[in-house]
Amino acid sequence: MNTITAAITAVGAYVPDFVLSNKVLETMVDTNDEWITTRTGIKERRILKDADKGTSFLAIKAAQDLIAKANIDPLEIDMVIMATATADMPVASTGVYVATEIGATNAFAYDLQAACSSFLYGMSTAAAYVQSGRYKKVLLIGADKMSSIVDYTDRATCIIFGDGAGAVLFEPNYDGLGLQDEYLRSDGVGRDFLKISAGGSLLPTTEETVKNKQHNIIQDGKTVFKYAVTNMADASELILKRNNLTKDDVNWLVPHQANKRIIDATAGRMELEESKVLMNIERYGNTTSATLPLVLNDFEHLLKKGDNIIFAAFGGGFTWGSIYLKWAYDKK
Ligand SMILES: CC(C)(COP(=O)(O)OP(=O)(O)OC[C@H]1O[C@@H](n2cnc3c(N)ncnc32)[C@H](O)[C@@H]1OP(=O)(O)O)[C@@H](O)C(=O)NCCC(=O)NCCS
Repeated sequence: MNTITAAITAVGAYVPDFVLSNKVLETMVDTNDEWITTRTGIKERRILKDADKGTSFLAIKAAQDLIAKANIDPLEIDMVIMATATADMPVASTGVYVATEIGATNAFAYDLQAACSSFLYGMSTAAAYVQSGRYKKVLLIGADKMSSIVDYTDRATCIIFGDGAGAVLFEPNYDGLGLQDEYLRSDGVGRDFLKISAGGSLLPTTEETVKNKQHNIIQDGKTVFKYAVTNMADASELILKRNNLTKDDVNWLVPHQANKRIIDATAGRMELEESKVLMNIERYGNTTSATLPLVLNDFEHLLKKGDNIIFAAFGGGFTWGSIYLKWAYDKK
């Protein structure tokens, strides 16, 4: 019997309609379009305005998009992994609700949280289940309603994040396509540099924590930037070397969309030409768990069967890594 590899066989995505542009942010905090564009590459982001809708709304839409495009029977899905840092609720898995709502009633589901690396880690998890032969259709969704945790008076943070969702289906492949190698890392040194300090077991919610805005995401941007540049570039370089890939062997880099300068640094270390670096940060900002599948969805038409793709991400915690995957289909 041939070895089983885990391939991505379908992609879907969803972003909310409301556009929060740099121009509008200028009216909310002391910032300007030029500063945001040169420091981050972001022009606008999407925001889920409905106060009564959580991350599950975005995730369901993305999954339904995938199901419709790929003409999949949701009853055949074995497992749903919900990569998110903004679950609907602290307890009662968002993935479980999403799976039921999309009709994947034969699946089991759970949430996976590794900040901005949630989707990358989820790829590893989904692939491992498929490669083991245990499950045949694993739906991996990356979704975040970042606007629910962003403080829109904090100009260093609110300019970066947006809301969105993307989904991919992992299935067995017998021709060697799909996930080839991964290098995933984490380091608790990052715990204090990018976090929501209250609302967890360490500092449960009180009137005080609400008053002090401790339920919003805060970051030491400069420190996060430094670690992100170094680690994303190191991980990507390592995965190339380990797989004897030269820059010419790489068809695409799919990087986490946190900051265009971080992406440029990673691509620079890999000596990749700009045309191979897939980016949509200018339109969506950093959607945390959704950036990688949103990129796949936007550029799906460019990806060809057998293409070598390097994924790279960095997130709070710190968490980071790189994955080498061979694309498995041509878009119809
Ligand atoms: C947040 C980030 C864009 C800030 O860029 P930076 O070049 O590091 O800028 P600094 O934080 O050094 O701030 C420089 C100046 O701009 C100011 N500034 C910060 N945000 C600003 C904004 N939105 N508009 C205008 N000025 C701003 C600062 O107050 C500072 O002013 P000062 O020199 O008078 O103190 C950048 O650090 C970054 O992208 N970090 C990584 C964040 C990230 O990716 N997080 C998610 C990880 S997955």
